[in-house]
Amino acid sequence: MNDFTAFMAEACARVDTALDECLPSVAERGELAEAMRHIVFSGGKRLRPALVELGALDVGGELSRARGAAAAVELMHAYSLVHDDLPAMDDAQQRRGKPCVHVLWGDAMGVLAGDALLTLSFEVLARGTPADAPVGEMCAVLARHTGWAGMVGGQCDDLAAEGAEPDLEHVRRIHEGKTAALLAACLQLGALAGGGDPAHVERLGGVGLDLGLAFQIVDDLLDVEGESADLGKAAGADAEAGKLTWPAVVGAAQARSDAEQLVSDALQRSRGGAAEGLIAALGAKILARRS
Ligand code: IPE
Ligand code: IPE
Ligand code: MG
Ligand code: MG
Ligand code: MG
Repeated sequence: MNDFTAFMAEACARVDTALDECLPSVAERGELAEAMRHIVFSGGKRLRPALVELGALDVGGELSRARGAAAAVELMHAYSLVHDDLPAMDDAQQRRGKPCVHVLWGDAMGVLAGDALLTLSFEVLARGTPADAPVGEMCAVLARHTGWAGMVGGQCDDLAAEGAEPDLEHVRRIHEGKTAALLAACLQLGALAGGGDPAHVERLGGVGLDLGLAFQIVDDLLDVEGESADLGKAAGADAEAGKLTWPAVVGAAQARSDAEQLVSDALQRSRGGAAEGLIAALGAKILARRS
């Protein structure tokens, strides 16, 4: 097992423990807890918590300082998936090879389980971060990157662009908002928890944006080239919905090469940090992913 594989396995185990501790039990909260636990424990890759930990490592901080932020970003991600799959948004049936939350418990529970995950995310970030870290700034960073100026704004643009004319700047704006902004926040939250200086935090934001854009380009490519059984979600859904995707604008071959270039730019930017090697391995994993 190489260093990166071992790091990912340990990061997953750490965040799973933190998530299990913060989520309500079914005894406590019935179906709402079942729905929240269903999406959180259905086999996500845990890329975002791993990025938080890499942010902390990169500035020479201790991993344990990033525990709250790592769980918080996975809760945020889980909420975004539940809402993304709702009939009013992408109208998906399957996520990670299992029925979506709204398929199992209905649309209202999809909305509410998402809301509960989103709000829990900030509670876990605030309570799970050491008091000598800039907790207020970290909450603001997470909110800014996932609200109107980030993920939610990007999701609005994604829906509004269904059927739009191919335009590279348009798709770049959508992808930066809906996906890359959260990945940028992940590295920054880890760096803030780990005691990084402002210039280092800023630089890691740029690394996260490039990696996040590459990640969404690969997601678009997998929708075209992948199989539903491997993806755990319906392949071809983007074309069916008329989504404005990267390969729809530039073609699959150029999209692949753009993703590679973005990862290479990210690695260039991340030179000199203590986690440079692990960030490079994660970039390679983003390009090689099949699900
Ligand atoms: C899926 O993200 C949503 C996108 C932003 C494309 P992931 O592919 O990271 O989802 P999981 O958590 O590993 O299932
Ligand atoms: C999802 O993008 C982005 C967020 C959930 C914020 P997609 O709609 O492309 O993700 P998948 O393909 O459903 O996983
Ligand atoms: Mg979507
Ligand atoms: Mg979707
Ligand atoms: Mg997609």
